[in-house]
Amino acid sequence: MSVQLEKKHEKMMEKIHNGEKLESLTEITDEYKDNLLTLLIAQADSELAGAYGYIPWIEGAPNVAEKLVMANIVKDECRHAKAIYDLIDRFGVNTDKLIHEDKMKNRMKVFYEPIKTWADLVMFNFLMDRAAGHQLQDAAECSWGPWSRAMQQIEKEEWMHVKHGETWVRKLANDPNQKPKVQEALDFWFPKVNKVFGKPGTDSNNVFRKFKLKQRDNHEVRQVWYKEIKELLESYGLTVPDISVIESKN
Ligand SMILES: [Fe+2]
Ligand SMILES: [Fe+2]
Repeated sequence: MSVQLEKKHEKMMEKIHNGEKLESLTEITDEYKDNLLTLLIAQADSELAGAYGYIPWIEGAPNVAEKLVMANIVKDECRHAKAIYDLIDRFGVNTDKLIHEDKMKNRMKVFYEPIKTWADLVMFNFLMDRAAGHQLQDAAECSWGPWSRAMQQIEKEEWMHVKHGETWVRKLANDPNQKPKVQEALDFWFPKVNKVFGKPGTDSNNVFRKFKLKQRDNHEVRQVWYKEIKELLESYGLTVPDISVIESKN
């Protein structure tokens, strides 16, 4: 490392340790930038893929009010994608190329799973938006100022999606005809959403945390999510898969 680069790194790390936000491209090192871009690109693609998953459910929703809710969630996810792609754009990355040519390269597997029924949709909504909400909480506190600010509004909307999933899963679980379908949807989605948190203690996670681009280990975030969904789903009379069994299979 050159002396100049070392100084830049030290100054940047000092700001990070003091809890200050980094605001300009001139104050960050290439290593920080690369790690930041990895996370931003992953989030932007997930927002877009999330929107695509909900689109068929504007038509598939059971009533007009729900069609509007689905359309609003699609709009929210597209807006989230746009906000994050705008942040990526600042680094001179060709975001059109990312969307059109590089799409699906690293897309999370969960977005390729088919949403077949309304029970499937609301369970996906329940589990996945909550998973995203918890993961994005780390981003809201991150050291990159522009991302941290963009996340404030995104997070609020994400929790509205979570509430929607919660209302519907509870409603279907209370209906004896629907309950088996919701349980089936839970058994289908649980292991898939559980995987989106990633493995515990990875090298990349350690680097993200060093730069305060993430605040917690993957496993810590997963545990918070699991505790919440377990309490809620059990209160609706559903059976939640044992997280340790699922993890040992991976
Ligand atoms: Fe979103
Ligand atoms: Fe969402």
